[in-house]
Amino acid sequence: MHKKVFCNWKTYLGVGETQTLAAEIVEYAGSAKGIVLLPSAELLASVAHVIEGTSVEMGAQTSSVHRHGAYTGQLDPENLHTLGCQYVLVGHSEQRAAAPMPASHFIAQATTALEVGLIPVICIGETRQQRDAGDAAAVVREQLRGLEDIADPDEFFIAYEPVWAIGTGEAATVEDVTQMCEYVKSIMGERTAILYGGSVTAETVGAFATQPLISGFLIGGASTKTTTLFPILDVLRSS
Ligand code: 13P
Repeated sequence: MHKKVFCNWKTYLGVGETQTLAAEIVEYAGSAKGIVLLPSAELLASVAHVIEGTSVEMGAQTSSVHRHGAYTGQLDPENLHTLGCQYVLVGHSEQRAAAPMPASHFIAQATTALEVGLIPVICIGETRQQRDAGDAAAVVREQLRGLEDIADPDEFFIAYEPVWAIGTGEAATVEDVTQMCEYVKSIMGERTAILYGGSVTAETVGAFATQPLISGFLIGGASTKTTTLFPILDVLRSS
């Protein structure tokens, strides 16, 4: 599989379901690399156990901007790394909406992640209102400000997830996404790996999969069941 697939399980799944799904994905993947599981934080340790020694990787859905210290309720990035996370989502729109922070907060979060050896997956994207107002590029520019100063393009992933495409069944068009990829690469560098996320299904993934500008996918709802995830992976294996 040439494209990377990040499965963002959000808080959709219970304990048993998570372990079963992780085991089924391990079996499906065999020796194929490129699948990353993003379970909710309290389930990271049990998923780490299931994927140990396999080709499947794991990441966290967020992490603290701080390292060890008095930060009750936050997720220690160093511990996440020790637990087996290779990746961490930074600034998912559901996080940005739940606890609004300036864009610089998320760049600082990516900085700390890099310091402890995690690969940040920085989520960017505009709302429907911002797109309709012609502000999509400006919004994304603001979300990325400062990232170019802290990391080389091959040290992180960008996930372009327009807010209006998340969980709505309305994926962005290939044209919308490739235009945004070109814009992001013009700022961050050609080598920047960009994922697309937002209502990815087996029906929509094929058109994106043929685009060299798109390095992979960040999949929410459809990644939480084998009946919807495996058909996506089948498309990616054959394209
Ligand atoms: P959906 O695939 O459910 O639209 O979610 C996208 C997403 O938020 C992945 O991070």
